[in-house]
Order: sequence, then structure tokens, then C-alpha cells
Amino acid sequence: MRDDARMLLSGKVAIVTGAGSGIGRASALRFAAEGASVVAADIRGPKVDETVALIERDGGVAAACQADVASGTDVERMVAFAVESFGGLDALFCNAGTIRPGTAVTLSEKDWDLVMAVNVRSVFLGAKYAVPALVARGGGTIVSTASVSGLAGDASSVAYSASKAAVINLTRSLAVDHARQNIRVNCICPGAIDTPPVGRMLSDPEIRRRSERAHPLGRIGQPEEIAAAAVWLSSSESSFVTGQAIVVDGGLSAQSHLQGMADPRPTHLRA
Ligand SMILES: NC(=O)c1ccc[n+]([C@@H]2O[C@H](COP(=O)([O-])OP(=O)(O)OC[C@H]3O[C@@H](n4cnc5c(N)ncnc54)[C@H](O)[C@@H]3O)[C@@H](O)[C@H]2O)c1
Repeated sequence: MRDDARMLLSGKVAIVTGAGSGIGRASALRFAAEGASVVAADIRGPKVDETVALIERDGGVAAACQADVASGTDVERMVAFAVESFGGLDALFCNAGTIRPGTAVTLSEKDWDLVMAVNVRSVFLGAKYAVPALVARGGGTIVSTASVSGLAGDASSVAYSASKAAVINLTRSLAVDHARQNIRVNCICPGAIDTPPVGRMLSDPEIRRRSERAHPLGRIGQPEEIAAAAVWLSSSESSFVTGQAIVVDGGLSAQSHLQGMADPRPTHLRA
């Protein structure tokens, strides 16, 4: 652990959702390393217990909360748990998300609803139940994980792309609504990040190589690089930033779209 004075989230209470894996786990660890007391939430209880054990091993403070972010009852309980466990709430990181591939023709109605519930309804519910707790502390932050897929339409990804675009504009609306309550609301748009689902997608070395080349920095990102952005947006270092979609993608979205015109694969899988 670093010494208190240099920690970005010293004395804060934070909830990180999707904390059982990937970006969420890396963020829960980093939030705790920056001095926050962390409620690590995930639908998979055993995975989030592992995250809490990792934080405690490093001398951090955390509590596990099994919760489905698409359920209002669970999200309300998750916020109450943070307040009961640590005395309040300063930062919510709505990171849990899911993906179901498909075009409008191939994707089932059930999968459309699932993606919208886990990716978008979750942010609405998070704000709904966290805002009163943040107001009680005199303000705070909400950060969500959107995606570069919310900035442009990916092939065979109607629900995911639409859901992440919705997260970006929901972020703006929440920021405008709650600015006068001293609540800042931002989201992060990652490019391809090396987490378990992406690792599975890139298990073919040739596809991984193409994905790496698609990012001008020549590699895919690490979960810790998104965690760093989430910490910054949750800290006073970003005190005049609200309503923004911060792109953390190794330059992926900076390129001319002409480059991939004839290629129907999702941007992050193109050569
Ligand atoms: N990895 C990438 O390349 C990438 C790129 C852009 C955006 N994202 C977004 O980043 C976020 C994290 O993704 P990741 O790559 O770390 O994936 P991951 O699968 O490693 O982690 C996601 C976690 O969310 C949890 N989760 C899923 N549904 C949930 C629910 N209903 N309630 C609570 N928890 C739930 C899962 O159990 C899992 O632990 C997602 O919102 C994803 O869309 C990822």
C-alpha cells in the first residue's frame, strides 16, 4: 500500500460492479489501492469473494456483494450494503456488462432484452439508488463502462452497440440532471481489453494479431489501463469533468473508417 497522502481515493467508499472478473476486478483492486473502501459486486458470488480476498491480501478494505445489476431490488440492496458497511457512498462504477452477438434477424428478443437490461438498465438503476446516497455525502461520482462499440455500429452486434451508445447518452443526461448536486457522471469507452471474454474471442493467434494491429498502439489494452481511467474519473483530479465519454482505446477510434470499408468484422477484429 502507498502512503495515504498520495492516494487518489483516500477515505472514499466505492462500489464497483462486475468486480468478479476483468476490468471490474482490476478496478476494485486499484480503487482499494488508492485508499477506497470497496464494495465489490457481481452476479457471481464466488468470483467476487476472490476479488475481496485479493484486496485484503494487499492490505485493502473491501466487502463482497452478490447482486444482479439488472434487478432494482438487488441494486437498491447493493447501495444500502455499501452505506451500512462503510458509512456512506462516494463513487459508483457501473462496469458490469454482457454481450450477445447477432444481427436484427439472428438475435433473439430474449438476448436483446438481456443485453439492454445488463448494460443500460443497470446504469439507470445504479443512478436511481446511488444518487440519494451520494447527495447525503455532499456529492460524488458515477462512472460507467461504455465501449468504442457505442461510438459506431459494429457488425453482428446490434444489441451491444445500441446498449453502449445508450450508456453514453444516459451519462450525459445524468450529468446534466445531477451536476447541481455536485455529482459528476462520466463513462469510459474501451477498445479491445485483455479480459476473459476477449481472451476467448482472440484465442486464435491470427485473430489476436489482427486485433492488435487494428489498434494504432499495436496491442490490445490491459484491464488496469481502464481501471486507471475509472480511478481518475472517480477522484478530485477530474473535478471539472462531467458528462463525458472518455475513450481509452490505443487509438482505435482515431483512425479513418475508410481503412476498414470492405471488412464487415467488428472494428476491433479487423486487420
Ligand atoms: N474487454 C473489452 O474489450 C471491453 C471493451 C469495451 C467495453 N467493455 C465493457 O467492460 C465491462 C467489463 O467487461 P470485461 O471485459 O471485464 O468482462 P468480464 O466478463 O471479464 O467481466 C464482467 C463481469 O460482469 C459480471 N456480470 C455480468 N452480468 C452481470 C449482472 N447482471 N450483474 C452483475 N454482474 C454481472 C460477470 O459475472 C463478470 O464478472 C463490460 O461492461 C463490457 O461491455 C469491455
